[in-house]
Amino acid sequence: MRIQNTELNNTLGNEDETGKGIRAANVPRDKLWVTSKLWNADHRPNEATAAIQKSIKDLGVGYLDLYLIHWPVAFVPGEGTKIDEDTTIIDTWRAMENIARSNLTRKIGISNFSRRDVETIMRICQICPYAHEFETHPYLQQQEFVDYHKDIGVKVIAYSPLANTNPVYRGNDKLDPILQDPFWVQLAQKKNATIAQTVLAWGHQRDTVIIPKSVSEKHMMENLRALDISFTEDEMRAIAKQDKKVRMNDPGRKWGLKLFADLDDPTQLDAEDGREL
Ligand SMILES: NC(=O)c1ccc[n+]([C@@H]2O[C@H](COP(=O)([O-])OP(=O)(O)OC[C@H]3O[C@@H](n4cnc5c(N)ncnc54)[C@H](OP(=O)(O)O)[C@@H]3O)[C@@H](O)[C@H]2O)c1
Repeated sequence: MRIQNTELNNTLGNEDETGKGIRAANVPRDKLWVTSKLWNADHRPNEATAAIQKSIKDLGVGYLDLYLIHWPVAFVPGEGTKIDEDTTIIDTWRAMENIARSNLTRKIGISNFSRRDVETIMRICQICPYAHEFETHPYLQQQEFVDYHKDIGVKVIAYSPLANTNPVYRGNDKLDPILQDPFWVQLAQKKNATIAQTVLAWGHQRDTVIIPKSVSEKHMMENLRALDISFTEDEMRAIAKQDKKVRMNDPGRKWGLKLFADLDDPTQLDAEDGREL
């Protein structure tokens, strides 16, 4: 398992602060793995280069290990969520390749792409994605999509690996919190582990890079011990049956776009004026 020490997003404005933490920790640069993402308003090639340069400067790290296109959606710079019809994901991928060639980042990748979007990038890439970061957990397993990435040699980074645990998702679904789900409670008891450890161990066993987030040192240490748990084939089959095909993170409605169109739980728009990407 790769531990992503920092999972950053310049739109949250947390890179400055994280840079201070990195400097204070005084850890050699090559012992850190730093991922950041390119925001939608920075998809045009010049904006993309300026965005990663700002991230690197704010973080004080010299280079990134991985830089991801956050969403396959371009906004017109400075105009909120207005869709930039002139900038395609191919234009942005070319910019990402140039960024990699300039050694601003060791690897490049994508996030929240549909299967069709991934196929587009795989068709045209000269430097191909190292990883695709998308939402996947026991309630949104997307096993076929995960297997597809294995076939094409792109690592899957599983975000929100604890499903609906992050309070920002409260009310997005009608499911019980996974940490109280009787199936997982029972499996955790059998494994003599906590429920969080058991859920994370499943993500690890299916070969996804799990990036649980925690502000608590106790939880971080607890989560690391997920690496000691494994499941039998029968247990993996039982977990597969627990898939609820429910997505927690979907800004598509807000943006008037049908995201994840060929995946489980795509964006549902009320009005006809939204469009498929
Ligand atoms: N690419 C994207 O578009 C995208 C979208 C969403 C998220 N992400 C990334 O994915 C990572 C994680 O996502 P996430 O925060 O949505 O989901 P998550 O890691 O599945 O859940 C985080 C929540 O779980 C709690 N938690 C962690 N360990 C726990 C434990 N052992 N026991 C009980 N509660 C525990 C945390 O609370 P405490 O802090 O109190 O421990 C926090 O509320 C982040 O790095 C985030 O940046 C990426």
